[in-house]
Amino acid sequence: EPDVYVDIDPYKLVEADMASLANDIKKQLNTQETLLKTMSHYYFDGKGKTFRPLVALLMSKACNISTNISDRVMSKQKTVAIVAEMIHTASLVHDDVIDASDTRRGQCSLNKMYGQRKSILVGDYILSQASIALASTGNPQVITILSSVLEDLVSGEFMQLGSKEDENERFSHYLKKTYKKTASLIANTCKAVAILGQCDDYMSEKAYQYGRNLGIAFQLVDDLLDFVSSELVMGKPTAADLKLGLATAPVLFAAQEFPELHPMIMRRFTVDGDVETARHLVAKSEGVQQTKLLASQHSQEAIKSLQEFRASDARLALERLARILLERKS
Ligand code: FPP
Ligand code: MG
Ligand code: MG
Repeated sequence: EPDVYVDIDPYKLVEADMASLANDIKKQLNTQETLLKTMSHYYFDGKGKTFRPLVALLMSKACNISTNISDRVMSKQKTVAIVAEMIHTASLVHDDVIDASDTRRGQCSLNKMYGQRKSILVGDYILSQASIALASTGNPQVITILSSVLEDLVSGEFMQLGSKEDENERFSHYLKKTYKKTASLIANTCKAVAILGQCDDYMSEKAYQYGRNLGIAFQLVDDLLDFVSSELVMGKPTAADLKLGLATAPVLFAAQEFPELHPMIMRRFTVDGDVETARHLVAKSEGVQQTKLLASQHSQEAIKSLQEFRASDARLALERLARILLERKS
């Protein structure tokens, strides 16, 4: 199938806003406490994927095309893009403490460099400044929507700490967790910029569904890369999920072919050799392929959600993003 969207570079379309993003965020993180400031700036070095702001800015453009939007509204939408990246980064800072991870994006993690106690406070500090930025939009609905994302992040992370006893509930538990941990932020960011752009409830829901499906596809790809990619490409250790006791889609699918995985999933791969055996069984199974298929179904759903948006380069870029997501290698 020829790729007719080949000319549209999603980044190019919102290049100016994306280029200033890291500096805009660092301006928000301007405490007198020198070390706190240094630490809070650490991940805003322009090396991250900044996927969430990219989606937020493109969705803003796709929504605004239908209405006559003022600079004031556009600046609020950009604030939402900034807030999304700040919330995401704060959650990663805490996540690396929880996961005892020494690396992030191929670099030393903040907790490895400065210790856990300071890192937890840095995550809290970034979140505090994200809240202030969010409040500056002055839109109570948008503030509520993005605040509820924080609850989803926490409860998604919490769900991940426990395994489901019932084999049949495991996959739905995994998908619910995936929504809360990853898709909620992207979905609600899309909804927030749509609301700011004066989309009606119907179109705001379409924006939300785009982000939800994109987010789930994104995480499914992340979970399969943990099995197929190498540490060198990813910038973080692989098979990390198994080592953390987590059963993601590739293992859950593989367990349908190799039921001997079930007890390993239940004991969170804690017995010597569990991680290696599970890796081996996943490699022998259709698990990775099935995960890829599920990701591509969510990607197609995301694209369908855009059908009623007015034709624009921004809409094409969002469609392309949903496709290239599936080809991601790191
Ligand atoms: C990365 O997952 C982690 C998340 C997407 C969310 C983490 C959420 C919390 C720690 C709750 C606290 C929230 C806030 C807002 C402070 P991963 O460990 O699977 O991914 P990784 O491989 O990138 O580490
Ligand atoms: Mg982690
Ligand atoms: Mg984690």
